[in-house]
Amino acid sequence: MPETIVIKSDVERNAEWRDAFKDYDINVCFWNRVADKRLVDYALVWKPEPGSLRQFSNLKIIFSIGAGIDHLKGSDIVPPGIPVVRMVETSLTAGMVEYVCYHALRFHRFMPQYERYQREQQWRTIMPVPASARTIGILGLGVLGSAVAQALKPFGFRIAGWSRTAKRVGGVESYYGDSQLNAFLGQTDILVCLLPLTEQTRYILNAENLSKLPRGACLINAGRGRHQVQSDLIGLLDNGRLGGAALDVFEDEPLPQHDPLWSHPKISITPHVASMTTPSCGAQHVRDNITRFRLGKPLAHLANMERGY
Ligand code: NAP
Ligand code: GLV
Repeated sequence: MPETIVIKSDVERNAEWRDAFKDYDINVCFWNRVADKRLVDYALVWKPEPGSLRQFSNLKIIFSIGAGIDHLKGSDIVPPGIPVVRMVETSLTAGMVEYVCYHALRFHRFMPQYERYQREQQWRTIMPVPASARTIGILGLGVLGSAVAQALKPFGFRIAGWSRTAKRVGGVESYYGDSQLNAFLGQTDILVCLLPLTEQTRYILNAENLSKLPRGACLINAGRGRHQVQSDLIGLLDNGRLGGAALDVFEDEPLPQHDPLWSHPKISITPHVASMTTPSCGAQHVRDNITRFRLGKPLAHLANMERGY
C-alpha cells in the first residue's frame, strides 16, 4: 500500500499541491480531511496548531512549507523524536533574491527620494554613489543569504555577511559570532536581515545595534517580524540615523490597521511575500527527501530544533 502525506497549506493551493505529487508513489490528503489518521506517514505543514500533529500516530517526518521553522517551535507542536525538514527550493530562493536585489538597488539609486520628488513635482538631482562605494551587509549567510550575496556581487557592491559560524562564500567578507557583529554593522550601508528567528536573534534589529550602522543606512528585513523592534525603527528613521526601511515581516501579521508603520514615509511595506514556496518546486524537495528516507539515506535540510533553525 502506498504511503500517505497530509498537507496543511492555504486551502486555495491544495489543487496545486495535489498535482505536484501526482507522478509520485504517495497518497495525498489534506488537513481535517484525513480518513484514517494512523495511515499518515508524512506531514507537510505551515503553522499547525499545538497538539495537532500528535493525531498522526505513525508520523515519520514533518516537512515545513516554509524555510523558517519558527512556526513549529513551542511546546507540543512537533511530537518527540520526529525529524523536521526545512523548505529549500529554487523558486523560494529566486523570489528572495529578487526581493532583496530590488530593494537594495532601490535604496542604492535613491528611488524613495526620487519618488517623493516626483510627488512634489521637484526636478532635483542626488549625486550617484558608485556601487563599489557601498557595502551591503547580510545578516544570515545561509541558503537565502548566500544566494542574495551572489546575486548582488556583479553590481560591484562590497558584500559582507554575518553568521553564527565562519563562511566561505566567494567575494563575500565573512563575519561571525557576537564578537564580530559590531565590526560588521559599522561598515554596512544597506543591511539585509535573512536570519531565522531564534532566542539569539529575536529583536536583533534594535536601537542599540542599528545605531552602529553608518548614519543614513537602510534596512531590508525579510527575516521575521520579531527580529525588529518596531518602535526603535520608527525613532531611528525619524531622527535620520536610518535612511529607509523595506519591511516584509512584522511582529503581528497581518500588520494591524492602525500601526504607524503603514504610513511612515521612509518605510516600504509588503505583506510577507518576499518569497513563497511554489508547490511544484516544494513538492520536488519533499519527494527527494522521502525517496532518500525510503533508501535509508540522510535527510537533506534537516532542521536542528535545539538550535532553532
Ligand atoms: P538557513 O539556510 O538556515 O540560514 C540561516 C543563517 O542564519 C545561517 O547562515 C546561520 O549561521 C545564521 N544564523 C542563525 N543564527 C545565528 C546567530 N545567532 N548569529 C549569527 N548568525 C546566525 O536559512 P534560510 O533558508 O537562508 O532562511 C533564513 C530565514 O529567512 C528563514 O528562517 C525565514 O525566517 C526567512 N524567510 C523569509 C521569507 C519571507 O518571505 N519573508 C521567505 C523565506 C524565508 P550558520 O550557518 O553559521 O549556522
Ligand atoms: C516564509 O516566510 C518562509 O519561511 O519560507
